[in-house]
Amino acid sequence: MLSGRTVLVGACGGIALYKVPLLISRLRELRAGVHVIMTEAATRFVSPLTFQTVSGNAVHTDLFARPQLWNVEHIALAERADLMVLVPATANILAKAATGIADDFLTTTLLAVTCPVLVVPAMNAAMYRHPATSRNIETLRGFGHEVLEPDTGRLASGAVGPGRYPSTERILAACLRLLGPGDLCGRKVVVSAGPTREPFDPVRFISNPSTGRMGFALAAEARRRGADVVLVAGPTELDPPDDVAVKRVVTTSEMRDAVLGEASGADVVVMAAAPADWAPADSFDRKVKKGEAGLGLRLVVTPDILAELGRAERRPPVVVGFAAETDDLVANAREKLGAKDADLIVANPVCREPGSGFAAPTNRAVILARDGSAEELPLMSKSDIASAVFDRIVLLLGRQAGLNRTPEG
Ligand code: CTP
Repeated sequence: MLSGRTVLVGACGGIALYKVPLLISRLRELRAGVHVIMTEAATRFVSPLTFQTVSGNAVHTDLFARPQLWNVEHIALAERADLMVLVPATANILAKAATGIADDFLTTTLLAVTCPVLVVPAMNAAMYRHPATSRNIETLRGFGHEVLEPDTGRLASGAVGPGRYPSTERILAACLRLLGPGDLCGRKVVVSAGPTREPFDPVRFISNPSTGRMGFALAAEARRRGADVVLVAGPTELDPPDDVAVKRVVTTSEMRDAVLGEASGADVVVMAAAPADWAPADSFDRKVKKGEAGLGLRLVVTPDILAELGRAERRPPVVVGFAAETDDLVANAREKLGAKDADLIVANPVCREPGSGFAAPTNRAVILARDGSAEELPLMSKSDIASAVFDRIVLLLGRQAGLNRTPEG
């Protein structure tokens, strides 16, 4: 249900913290990805190891620790988040958040997120009723954060009053409401990824150095936005994203059959694969001996899947291609946009630039559209490119929905 969605849990130092692992388990049962950030005080109440175990991810406590995954980790986490939950929100974190103090991993991340923020206060009744706390809560509501009213009842001190940690189910319901359906909910998206191989004999083939990273990032992004995703993947080492249907193929014509088969009924097809353009005209089912083959290798052209899709009778509403170019990036890519009748072409330089191309985790890209526009993206991670590409796709789907609307509708 929450597959592909990322929840950041900002764990603070209050006694109710021992209940938070249950919330994380429930989020994970719903298939959300959960990353936990702990304040220093929180680590005194519950061990980071507990949170690492229940979340299945490394726990972040130290702003100056060496990054485990990304360069500027608190920013990268903030960008990936679909929801941030401050739990239990102590009087101290409410005060810091309300004034914009950023002096640890949690508070810097909180300032950097653009996703919805859920604040779950839990503390002693007198602290909760203090005018400073009330004012801070009002300030946070003014920022657009959702603040859950705590329960009233017996508190850790033995006193009775407001400030009790709400039930896990109440917090979970608020999380679900704030996460909402993704903007591709109910849509079918087909993504192709990786290279294909054209065998010459059982141990030799024609291929290219594509790793599939871009296509896998696109599939993960589409799933994150709620789409039903089919990933047609050539040979790659990568683990597929969760909750995505994967069809493994080897040759370009196998990829063609799989993509065209899935495309009818799809809303979007993204051809991020690098299918081999040629296949040996003659192939052998036994290993050819070195002395046997002449130096000439006759080749035949493989099917152009994107071009076939663009012209298909039941063409999907949005067809997106990639263009891998070593020279004249934009001009060559624009030619492909027209020749293959795609709606968007994502052009990226291969071979010549550091940080971009086949095996790199980052890429530089220009998104070209039929209306003549060219959106140049800076060097960024392939996940961020995937996000920018789907922003454009969602706009195109929305525009088509507008065009298809009847005057009465
Ligand atoms: N593509 C395809 N079928 C092929 C080759 C490419 O569907 N047999 C798709 C790719 O997935 C990509 C787009 O076409 O979305 C452009 O691929 P690219 O390798 O840049 O260009 P080619 O069409 O192969 O042309 P060239 O090699 O001449 O640049």
